[in-house]
Parts: sequence; structure tokens; C-alpha cells
Amino acid sequence: MSGNPTRERYAVIGNPVGHSKSPFIHGRFAAQTGEPVEYGHLLAPLDAFVPHVRAFIEAGGRGLNVTVPFKLDAHAFANMLSPRAAAAGAVNTLRVDADGIYGDNTDGVGLVRDIEVNLGVSLKGARILLLGAGGAARGVVLPMLERAPHTLTIVNRTAQKAEALVYQFAQAASGAHCRLTGGSARAIEAGRYDVIVNATAGSLDASLPECDDCAFGNGTLAYDMMYGAHPTIFMQHAAKLGARGADGLGMLVEQAAESFYVWRGVRPDSAPVLAELRALLTAPSPA
Ligand code: ATR
Repeated sequence: MSGNPTRERYAVIGNPVGHSKSPFIHGRFAAQTGEPVEYGHLLAPLDAFVPHVRAFIEAGGRGLNVTVPFKLDAHAFANMLSPRAAAAGAVNTLRVDADGIYGDNTDGVGLVRDIEVNLGVSLKGARILLLGAGGAARGVVLPMLERAPHTLTIVNRTAQKAEALVYQFAQAASGAHCRLTGGSARAIEAGRYDVIVNATAGSLDASLPECDDCAFGNGTLAYDMMYGAHPTIFMQHAAKLGARGADGLGMLVEQAAESFYVWRGVRPDSAPVLAELRALLTAPSPA
């Protein structure tokens, strides 16, 4: 990363990290808001997250986005955690403060904002089905509960992990007057869900998580946290059952916008950046 003394330094740290779209997104946010932000990427060896973060901070770095596989390391590294990062057990945003390192997790609110603002589907009073119970799923449970849905059903191939999430978030659900249940695919309730979120890693190897077809229908938003140039297998399956599909590109841009806000106190306009990224993603590659 080149040093520009008039700009404050931020980066995304991961392994691998060269493919990350975060430098592009934050570059657009900085240009749009006029904030003096310089944003690059930082490749850390798998066993050397902490020394790389320390060196970045010593060189004047002000904040980091954290991606695979370091979100748990970042959670352990932070001295202060936002409630949503504590609930997620993972950190995707580090901010260097005068009194220590603040850890936050903007993934969940990124998903919620994409669904509610960009896709226009309110989660308040909705019936939500969450597929998966790994890190990606756990990170979105609290921000979804904060929107006071009617029902949240968490289903996972390994049922115990879904049951553990139900136990962990029981109090938050009760406070939100939301019925929180979960387990194996048998926990899926009768009738169409309003929103089904695929938070499994299934789309990576083009496999479909187990899910009753009756959960999908007209009026269902079937949201895959993965994204690509083409609709994912989960989105294709949902479309055959009459549901509307969405991929996770909007979540990517919205979590970045929230991180930018955490660092700078300024909220960028995500819409033009999402439109530009979508166009780049779907443009035919040069022969
Ligand atoms: P992440 O941090 O991306 O969530 P993870 O913690 O490894 O990654 O979790 C991956 C999730 O995808 C889990 O819910 C996993 O199910 P298990 O807990 O049973 O392993 C789920 N998953 C991965 N591949 C899957 C597949 N082919 N079908 C269904 N679920 C799958």
C-alpha cells in the first residue's frame, strides 16, 4: 500500500484477499463523500494475523475490514466489542481508537439493509427461514431479530448447531416478540415463508441445502448470501417454485457502507456503487 500523508489508511485483511471488492467499494465511497480515505488490501499468512495488524496500526492504519479466515482472530484481538459483534462471535470491522481497538460486525445489518431498503421487503412481522448455522448465519440473527419479525426458523444440516443458536438468542427473540425455533429441516413450519436466507456454504460447491419446497412461493424473497455473474443454484431453485431471488452483492456493499460509517461517521450512498458493481459482474468478459 502506498502511503499518502494527507489520507488516512484503511485496508481489508484476509487470505486470500486479492479478489476482494472492498478496495473498489471504499474507493468509490471516499470519492463520493470527500473523506480522506486511502484503502488497500493486506494479505496475512494464516498464522500471522496479529503481527500484521499490529504493523499496520504502527504504520498509522486507522481501520480494517476483516475477511476469511480471520473474523474470529479479529474478535479475539479487539479490546472493545459492539453488541452485534459480541453476539456474532466474529468481527469484520476493526477501528483504531485512542483508547484501544474497537471491533464491530456489519454483516448482519448489511443483509437487513439490503433486504429492507434495496429490495423493499420489510422484516417486521415477517416469517423468516434461515438456512445454515455457521458463522455467516450467526452474524445475522441479532440484526434480524431487531427488526421484530413474527417468526425466525433456523435450519441446519447439523441440527445441533441450529438448536445452539436458538438457545443463544432466546432472550433477544423474546424481547423482540419473535418466535424463534430451529433444528433439522423437519423444523420448517407449514406454509410459505416471506423471506428465506441461504447462509450455508452450499452455493460454493453448487449444492442445495435441504429445504421443504412448500416454504417457497409467490411473495417469498429467496436470498442467497453468495453472489456471482449468474443466479446461484439456490436462486434458480427458488425461481422454479415461484419465489423472487436475490444474491448477496447488495449485502457486500451495505456491510461496507456500515463499516465506512463506523470509521468516518459519514454514511455513503450505496446505490450507485451497487449498480456499478452489478454491471461489472455481469459484463461479458473480454475474449
Ligand atoms: P460460514 O462462516 O461461511 O458460515 P461455516 O461456519 O463453515 O462457514 O458454516 C458453513 C454452513 O454451511 C454450515 O451451516 C454448514 O452446515 P453444517 O453445520 O452441517 O456443516 C453449511 N453447509 C455447508 N455445505 C453444505 C451443504 N452442501 N448442504 C447444506 N449445508 C451446508
